[in-house]
Parts: sequence; C-alpha cells; structure tokens
Amino acid sequence: MKHPMERRRLSACMLALCALAVPSLAQPAPEAGESRPARLMVEQVCAACHGNTGQSTQKEYPSLAGQNADYLFKQLRQFKASAGEPALRQDATMAAVVQSMSETEMREVARYFSRQPPARGQAALPHLVEAGKAIYWKGNPSNRLPACVSCHRPNGEGIAPDFPRIAGQQPEYVVRQLHAWKSGTRGGPGKLMSLLVPLMTDEEIVAVAQYVAQLR
Ligand code: HEC
Ligand code: HEC
Repeated sequence: MKHPMERRRLSACMLALCALAVPSLAQPAPEAGESRPARLMVEQVCAACHGNTGQSTQKEYPSLAGQNADYLFKQLRQFKASAGEPALRQDATMAAVVQSMSETEMREVARYFSRQPPARGQAALPHLVEAGKAIYWKGNPSNRLPACVSCHRPNGEGIAPDFPRIAGQQPEYVVRQLHAWKSGTRGGPGKLMSLLVPLMTDEEIVAVAQYVAQLR
C-alpha cells in the first residue's frame, strides 16, 4: 500500500503529463487498484501520443495498433520500476504513464490496441530502403548479424507472443530502440535483441529502420 502522500505525488505527476499533452482532458488518476475502462483510458491518456486507435502520426511515438497483446502488456510492465529496482525499460514519459496503472488496466489497454488495424508507415529516408532490405533478409554474415526476417517474419508481423510486429513502425522510433539495446536502457542484458544489436553499425540501424517502416 502506497503512502497517501506518495500517491498524491504520483497523481500530480500524471496530471502534469496529461495537462502537457491535452489540457482539456486533464483529470485525476484513480486510486491504485481501481480499474478504468480501457476505452476511456485510451482516449484520456494514450491517444494524445499514440492516436485513438494506436496508429501514431508523430515520429517520436510508436504505433501500437495490431501489435500482439502479450508483447504490449510486457512492455507496459517493464516501464514500471519496482521496489528499488530500476525499470527494465527506461523512458521517463512512459514511466509517468504506467505509474498509476494497475496490471488489469495494462492488460485491457494492451488488448484494445492489439485489436486495432495496423498502421501503414513509410520510410523517412527512402533512398536507404534497398540497403535496409538486404540487412532485414540476410543480416550481415561478416559480423555474424542474424537476419531480422527469421524472427520478425517476411512481412514484419512478428511471431506472437515473443517476437513483436515491427512492420509500419515509425522509423525514428525503431532507430531509438535499437540504440537503447546498444546502450543498455532497454530489456536488460542477455536478451535476443541486446545480443544482436551491438553487432550492427549505426548506418545499418538507420537503413533497416527505413525498410521496416514501409513493410506491410
Ligand atoms: C506523452 C506521450 C505519451 C503518452 C500519453 C503515452 N505514451 Fe506510450 N509511449 C510514448 C513514448 C515516447 C514511447 C517510446 C518509449 C521508448 O522510447 O522506449 C511510448 C511507448 C509505448 C509502448 C511500447 C511500444 C512498443 O512497441 O514497444 C507502449 C506499449 C505504450 N507506449 C503504451 C501506452 C499506453 C497504453 C498509454 C496510455 C495509457 C500511453 N502509452 C501513453 C509516449 C506516450
Ligand atoms: C532471434 C530473434 C530476433 C531477431 C533475429 C531479431 N529480433 Fe528484433 N526482437 C526480438 C524480440 C524477442 C523482441 C522483443 C524484445 C522485448 O520483448 O522487449 C524484438 C524487438 C524488436 C524491436 C522493438 C519493437 C518495438 O515495438 O519496440 C525492433 C525495432 C526490432 N526487434 C528490430 C529488429 C531488427 C531490425 C532485426 C534485424 C537486424 C531484428 N529485430 C532481429 C527478436 C529478434
């Protein structure tokens, strides 16, 4: 049970975030453990950044639509720090968002977004799509980088529940995530992506993100 003061501080943090994103929708977060209907949470909290149906139109925010629900739930949990342990996935914005969410709410919004039709993205740097395609399909044998296609599938839809959909994702977001694995701010050591991303050059990261963005 959280101390009332702490809870108030968390609510204030949540409020500040909502006010920042959508001033008219700023509302107090419910008490811990209280479940808000997924649809309402999406409209009041998530939509400002991820869009009402999880199709992001802003390059800094990922699309969530059509992503498998187990993966989304796992990410939401990883944004939350627990009892002295730092969050497995470090992001200040999402840490503030998940602070007041119960696990039930996380599962419900994850299910909501997983049911929406996937976003159709496009490359920000179209001239790099061909180079990105080679990495996606073949990897880079000279530095033993495995091909992305083996886990994320030819069309980028992934393999539920462990390998996420990446097709149509915002390319800048993809670049940022790959760098997060390189620098250790996502997922912890010894995981598949944290083992393979250090094998990539910065150029390969930017190129493969362009190919992924236009996959559908
Ligand atoms: C103020 C903007 C903002 C709001 C509001 C917001 N998000 Fe996010 N969200 C982000 C950003 C930025 C990231 C990328 C974080 C990173 O780089 O790791 C993100 C990432 C995510 C991810 C990980 C996606 C992936 O592909 O791994 C999930 C899941 C997510 N958000 C769900 C939600 C849900 C559910 C809500 C509403 C309850 C919400 N977000 C509200 C900005 C926001
Ligand atoms: C051996 C399997 C495997 C291979 C090969 C692989 N991935 Fe992944 N990928 C994963 C897993 C597992 C995750 C989910 C990690 C998590 O749960 O946080 C993931 C997550 C991702 C994400 C994050 C998606 C999001 O929404 O945040 C991106 C981007 C990504 N991979 C890109 C790539 C690229 C590009 C390649 C090729 C260079 C690649 N992956 C190769 C297994 C793989």
